[in-house]
Amino acid sequence: MRSTQVAIIGAGPSGLLLSQLLSRQGIDSVVLESQSPEHVQARIRAGLLEWTTVQLLEAAGVGARMLREGLVHDGIDLAFANGHHRIDLKGLTGRSVLVYGQNELQRDLVQARAASAAVLWQVSEVMLHDCASTPRVSYTHAGSRHELRCDFLAGCDGYHGVSRASVPRAQRAQYERVYPFGWLGLLADVPPLHEELVYAHHQRGFALCSMRSRSRSRYYLQCSLEEDLAQWPDSRFWDELRARLPDCYAARLLSGPSLEKSIVPLRSFVTEPMQFGRLFLVGDAAHIVPPTGAKGLNLAAADVRVLWQGLTEFYRGGSATLLGEYSARALGRVWKATRFSWWFTTLLHRWCADPFAERLKEAELEYLAHSAAASRSLAENYVGLGFDQPEAP
Ligand code: APR
Ligand code: PHB
Repeated sequence: MRSTQVAIIGAGPSGLLLSQLLSRQGIDSVVLESQSPEHVQARIRAGLLEWTTVQLLEAAGVGARMLREGLVHDGIDLAFANGHHRIDLKGLTGRSVLVYGQNELQRDLVQARAASAAVLWQVSEVMLHDCASTPRVSYTHAGSRHELRCDFLAGCDGYHGVSRASVPRAQRAQYERVYPFGWLGLLADVPPLHEELVYAHHQRGFALCSMRSRSRSRYYLQCSLEEDLAQWPDSRFWDELRARLPDCYAARLLSGPSLEKSIVPLRSFVTEPMQFGRLFLVGDAAHIVPPTGAKGLNLAAADVRVLWQGLTEFYRGGSATLLGEYSARALGRVWKATRFSWWFTTLLHRWCADPFAERLKEAELEYLAHSAAASRSLAENYVGLGFDQPEAP
C-alpha cells in the first residue's frame, strides 16, 4: 500500500497550493483529483487577490507570472444614483489588490506540481477511512483500485466533494443563506470599461464591470435564478449592462462577442468545525461565499496558510498545538469574510419590492461615499483582514 504524509483530496487552488507549500518544507503529499488538468485549468472564476494571498503564492514559489501579468488596483468604484464614487483602497488601508484570473493561477499551480509525481488526475470513487486515528484513502485510478495511507487528510475537494460528506451529519453544524438571484457573467476580448472595478447599484439590478487584463473584460449582471441563457444573446447582455451604468460609463462601454457566458447562483455556507480527527476541511469544502467582493479564493488561501503552518510545526518539532487550533483560527476569518460578502451583496443587489429597504440602501451608499470611517471599513474588508487580531489603527 502506498503511503504519504498528507493525502490531499482535490486539485483546485486549495489542494495544489497546499501541496506546493508542503513540498517546499520537505513534507510529502499526494493529491487525488477527479478531473483532468485541462478541465481544472479551464474553469472561469473570480480573479481578485488580496495582498496576503499574493504573498502566500510568492512563498509557494508560484508568484513570478502573477506579479508580471497581474494588475495592481488601488481603488474600486461604486456607481449609484447615476453617478460614481471611488473608494481609495490604498489611501485608506495602505494596501492594494491584484487582478489575476483564477484560471491563470490554477495553470501556474498545475505547472509547479507537474514536475512532481504528487498529483493523480482522473481518480474516481474516492473514499476516506478511519479519519479519527489511522487515516486511509481508497480510490480508483487507471482502472484499478488503490489505497493510500497517510498521517493527515486535507479535504480540498470543493462544495460538492466527498470530504465533508464523509463526516456524519450529526458531528457538524451547517449555516446557510441562499440568495434569491444569480449572476449572469460574460467574458469578452474588449478593453475594460474603467481602469478599476465598477460595482453598480441600480433599480434594474446590480452590475459589476471587472477585467482579466487590459484587453479582456469580465462583466456580470444580477439575474433571476430562473433565467435561461438562451434568452441572453450578447446584444441583450450589453444593452442591459449599459442600462444599469451611470450615463458617463454607459456612453463609453465597448462591447464585443462573448467568449463565455454563464449563470451562477449565490450562496453563503459555513460548516463547523473544520477539523474532524485527522481530517481538515479547506476552502470551498468548508465554506462558500457569494462572489461580491471575491473572497472565495482568498479565504481558501487563508485556510491553506493556517493548515500549512500547523503541519510544518508538527513535522519540524512534533507539536500539534497549531494544528489543533486550525478550525478556530480558520473560522474566525471565515465568519468575518462571510459577514462582509453578505453585507456587500445585500447592499448592492435589488431583489424584493420593499421600498423601505431600497431607500436604506441608497442612504447607506451615500453615507459610504461621504464618510471616511464607513469607506475605511469597506476598504479594510475588501483588501483583506490581517491574520491575528484586528489590525492596529
Ligand atoms: N475526488 C477528487 N476530487 C474531487 C472530488 C472527489 N470526490 N470532488 C471534487 N473534487 C475536485 C474538483 O474537481 C476540484 O478540482 O476538488 C477540486 C475542488 O476545487 P475548487 O472547487 O476550486 O475548491 P478550492 O480549491 O477550495 O478553491 C477555492 O475559490 O474562487 C473560489 O469557489 C472558488 O474554486 C474556488 C475557491
Ligand atoms: C471577477 O473578476 O470575476 C470578480 C471581481 C470582483 C468581484 C467578483 C468577481 O467582486
